[in-house]
Amino acid sequence: EELLSGAKPLAGRKAIVTSGPTHEPIDPVRYIANRSSGKQGHAIAAALARFGADVTLVSGPVTIPDPAGVRVVRVERAEEMRDQVLAALPADIAVMVAAVADWRVASAAGNKIKKRPGEAPPPLHLTENPDILKIIGHHQARPKLVIGFAAETENVAENGRAKLEKKGADYILANDVSPATGIMGGDRNRVRLIGREGIEEWLEMGKDEVAEKLAALIAENLAADLP
Ligand code: CTP
Ligand code: CA
Repeated sequence: EELLSGAKPLAGRKAIVTSGPTHEPIDPVRYIANRSSGKQGHAIAAALARFGADVTLVSGPVTIPDPAGVRVVRVERAEEMRDQVLAALPADIAVMVAAVADWRVASAAGNKIKKRPGEAPPPLHLTENPDILKIIGHHQARPKLVIGFAAETENVAENGRAKLEKKGADYILANDVSPATGIMGGDRNRVRLIGREGIEEWLEMGKDEVAEKLAALIAENLAADLP
């Protein structure tokens, strides 16, 4: 009840949020990307700031406006995102919402790749990107609360649970990003909150409402261990 009274339950807490897609260059004019809009991550950064937290938002390329009351660090590539997240440590809270590209081109071309008449199209050799959530979840300066998302198109709960373990997160918000759900790019979300004690189904609601509910959960968790 305190939490809803207009108080700032996260005053004095530092939070790092990632949001948006990453762009992984192929050559100077082309890149690999995904359909993330940044809406959910930006909404979470804004909600944490409303709750009084000192928020650093590390955002990939998005077209939506910067949220109010938040320090925004813009990046393009996953490796830049990792570097900026690490530079923002220490923190009490990390919420990794970005749809980080899982792979990048092993060696992006320095000049625009040209068509060569009569030759086969150029192959793209991919290499895996750093897993930022996993790095933070196992870091020596690990934030007290580490939260991730799990974007799935099948076996949402099981895959989300496996990510919780593998990445050392306290909570995973698992969602079904199949095109038919309209979640990727849309304004609404339906998530399952996966914690160490079990799973909680949240009703479908606006991404801003998911953000508010998550900020309240974070405040509740941290209230239990005041410094
Ligand atoms: N994540 C990250 N760095 C990556 C990949 C993912 O920080 N290189 C984070 C995302 O921000 C999200 C969580 O890990 O909070 C899960 O992302 P997701 O893409 O669902 O999982 P992956 O581990 O990449 O597995 P896959 O895409 O194969 O399902
Ligand atoms: Ca992924």
